[in-house]
Amino acid sequence: MSAARPPEAAQHRSAQHEGSALNTLKQLTALLLGLLLAWGGAANAQTLPDKSRDKTLGVVTCASSLCHGSIAGWNGSPVTQNEYVVWSRLDKHARAYSLLLNERSRRIAANLALPQPAHHSRICQDCHAHNPVAAAPAHSVADGVSCEACHGPATRWIAAHTEPGATHRSNIGNGLYPSAEPLARAKLCLSCHFGTSDKYVTHRIMAAGHPRMSFEMETFTSLQPAHFKVDADYLQRKGNFDGVKVWAIGQAVAVATQIDILLDPKRGRDGVFPELTLFDCHACHHPMADTRWKPVGNFGRSISPGLVRLNDSGMLMLRLLLRQTDPPLGERFGSAVAQLNQAMAGNGDLGERALAVKTLADEAARRISASGVSNDNLRAMALALVDDGLAGAYSDYAAAEQAAMALGSLVNTLHKLGQLKSAAALNKGLADLRAALRFDESFKPVDFQARLRTFRPLVATPLATR
Ligand code: HEC
Ligand code: HEC
Ligand code: HEC
Ligand code: HEC
Repeated sequence: MSAARPPEAAQHRSAQHEGSALNTLKQLTALLLGLLLAWGGAANAQTLPDKSRDKTLGVVTCASSLCHGSIAGWNGSPVTQNEYVVWSRLDKHARAYSLLLNERSRRIAANLALPQPAHHSRICQDCHAHNPVAAAPAHSVADGVSCEACHGPATRWIAAHTEPGATHRSNIGNGLYPSAEPLARAKLCLSCHFGTSDKYVTHRIMAAGHPRMSFEMETFTSLQPAHFKVDADYLQRKGNFDGVKVWAIGQAVAVATQIDILLDPKRGRDGVFPELTLFDCHACHHPMADTRWKPVGNFGRSISPGLVRLNDSGMLMLRLLLRQTDPPLGERFGSAVAQLNQAMAGNGDLGERALAVKTLADEAARRISASGVSNDNLRAMALALVDDGLAGAYSDYAAAEQAAMALGSLVNTLHKLGQLKSAAALNKGLADLRAALRFDESFKPVDFQARLRTFRPLVATPLATR
């Protein structure tokens, strides 16, 4: 059985060379901390764009060359104004709908016996396009994941947002989605890249031919071709934008979302089985001759041989980062996860224990949103990731994949902060880790461990000069 494809997206990730704006950025970061605290959590309860009752106007409304469709960015405008060009030419979201017309989508639709072709089916349109509650005639689902799919239906803010005196905050008041706020952004991206109770790539859809979903907020944020620039002006208008914070909140929101699906009476089950995508794909999808089960150390993950493991890779990451940033919460979360894994094996009340994990994940998201992740913790976190791996924590593909993406985010940030030096050595180290993840079905935990051992000195040595 062929289960999943390798994380292509993550393959492209590498440490970047820092720009000269770094120092200004650091100073501003400090200055704006207060502002940031004010933002954190401000808009948590914001309605997602496709659930908003406001009317969607359509990409044409944003695309004029005087607005967001300029070929080159304009000097003197706080935003680049070439957003439409970047999106339509480079961003995969612009072609998300047209994918629904390809051979693979036709096969998925046929295998599922959908009454309509994929591009006319709501279950596909809901993620591969902006499918809003109300729309003006100029809006077309064929535009794919459009501006308003992320920034919210524009009817109430379109005129006001270019008026003198308009601020980001006033725009949000008029229905602009707060995509600059990490918690709100995580909910937005994950609504399509993980799914919600309303739209979800089930195991049936995957078995019909849909790729496995692989996502990590920070990695995907930097992979999306940027149509905005985080410069001094941006920081002043919108506050700090910190890679590790984005990673951390992404993990917390992903865990909470996974539990929502698990506990949803409609989504969490499919016939006599639970929804299989909530479990480790490779618990089932591996050759029987490959007898590889062994106890997994002290990570609260291990249940007995022959049981289907929950995909707890996000929980493993969240536990690790909380242990570094908020040890008491990390301990509580770790034991809640261990108890959930026990309950999955029949020891304890599943609903109760799953809710306990979700409550703590929500609390973690709120805390990280309010206070961020201190730069002092980053190296310790990267080392803990490596050392957990050396102790055998990443016995499954999903966990190793999350660990590699997390290391990418952390190492990038450490490099930007000047705490790790040689981009070339770091990039090679990250590429070596990813090479072990290229083919999920032939993933060898021992091989990944060996690469982690080689990687360790790169993060262990302060200000490494290699
Ligand atoms: C919960 C949201 C969601 C739903 C529902 C969904 N998709 Fe997807 N689909 C995605 C995302 C996100 C990706 C990209 C995965 C990645 O690259 O990490 C994707 C990828 C794909 C791809 C592969 C694209 C490529 O670049 O090769 C195809 C084909 C596809 N989807 C078709 C469909 C069809 C057909 C349906 C309806 C039966 C559907 N999808 C339903 C979110 C969704
Ligand atoms: C997949 C989601 C997504 C899509 C699609 C998208 N954006 Fe964005 N956009 C973002 C994110 C994330 C940011 C950065 C956070 C922020 O500033 O709100 C952003 C930022 C912006 C900014 C703010 C720049 C600044 O300096 O403040 C503008 C303007 C913008 N986008 C316009 C557009 C336009 C126009 C389109 C369509 C052509 C578009 N976006 C499509 C996610 C998206
Ligand atoms: C309305 C649904 C939707 C939302 C919201 C959304 N995406 Fe996507 N995204 C998709 C789909 C569908 C694809 C697959 C397109 C393809 O493969 O061509 C995709 C593809 C991507 C890719 C390309 C992945 C690859 O394999 O190359 C990146 C990066 C990405 N999204 C990042 C983000 C980020 C960051 C956010 C939040 C700011 C976001 N997306 C929000 C639906 C969405
Ligand atoms: C509890 C066991 C189990 C888990 C967990 C599981 N699957 Fe499956 N999967 C199956 C079974 C059983 C089939 C049906 C096999 C058949 O028809 O021969 C299947 C079929 C598939 C197929 C179609 C294979 C074919 O022969 O066409 C794909 C693709 C797939 N699964 C992907 C996944 C992905 C991706 C995950 C994780 C997100 C996953 N599965 C998790 C048991 C599982």
